[in-house]
Amino acid sequence: MNSQALMDTAKALAAGGKGILAMDESNPTCNSRFRKLGIPETVEARRAYRELLLTTPCLGDCISGVILFDETIRQTRKDGTPLGEVVIDAAMIPGIKVDLGAKDLAGYPGEKITEGLDGLRGRLAEYFLLGARFAKWRAVIKIGESIPSRGCIEANAQALARYAALCQEAGLVPIVEPEVLMDGDHTMGRCGEVTEVALRTVFAELSAQRVMLEGMVLKPNMVIAGLACSAQNPVEEVASATMQCLRRTVPAAVPVIAFLSGGQLASDASAHLNAMNEGYKSQLPWALSFSFARALQQSALEIWRGYDTQVFLAQQALHHRAACNQAARRGAYTPEMEMMGVRTGKEEDQ
Ligand code: 13P
Repeated sequence: MNSQALMDTAKALAAGGKGILAMDESNPTCNSRFRKLGIPETVEARRAYRELLLTTPCLGDCISGVILFDETIRQTRKDGTPLGEVVIDAAMIPGIKVDLGAKDLAGYPGEKITEGLDGLRGRLAEYFLLGARFAKWRAVIKIGESIPSRGCIEANAQALARYAALCQEAGLVPIVEPEVLMDGDHTMGRCGEVTEVALRTVFAELSAQRVMLEGMVLKPNMVIAGLACSAQNPVEEVASATMQCLRRTVPAAVPVIAFLSGGQLASDASAHLNAMNEGYKSQLPWALSFSFARALQQSALEIWRGYDTQVFLAQQALHHRAACNQAARRGAYTPEMEMMGVRTGKEEDQ
């Protein structure tokens, strides 16, 4: 295992105040987002959309790495350049989703286990040759009346840890993503309790599987009320609850925490990230960054709708969201940026 290379990659993913663009939706997820907007659910439409995202001018000023789906890393730009090369040419690091999705967990109705460990060592070796330098595995934890169960949390934590160890062996930085879902009407307090247990369990398993914490990225949910909860908390409360949870559970050796957006409005995700950096950054051992999918892409997708004539505007929308979140990393995001667009100055390394 080349520990130095792993640590360098993990650091590079947080450098320059930049964040990660997650564009690794599986085909069914991508198709369902296309369907809602009347975009054809075809290989070519998915390729064209991913080309649009990756060729956004100056994206590499705000985005350090992109997470690709297996189909995408094997596709090319219209001129024949592999999309993985397009990422590297734009000064970004290619990453790859390697889990095979969340499936029903036997014996635990309503809960999921993420699959994909079988044959993973071989797939990781191939992705490394295709240029990937980091990977992602997403575990899904649902809050309900009597869930999550201990069995679900432990099974998912163990899978995450085994995946992470295999990634490091293969020279890929693992993004470890235990996502407590926003689906449901639970309170922010309940989300905090569940997230705390989930993260404690994940770090115990990472330690048991000898994962080098300096060479990984944690991708957690923010501590936030369920989407159907009538009591939504102000931005500062979400920031403080999230910080309390992470400080209790995440070892200082982890270099980067890159949040998922989880279905929040794009502007809310930026405001929450901003509040955490503004209020707590100077006291934290880890960089607080973003690895958003919907909160970066949604406006661009809605503008594009499959039309070539809309590509430029869609790319502007993506760049704007990336720049808003880069500003949020330094606590410099303001709601006014939503109206006017923001500059993309290169920021100090962190
Ligand atoms: P969202 O930001 O849309 O939650 O997606 C992040 C992600 O990568 C899910 O695995």
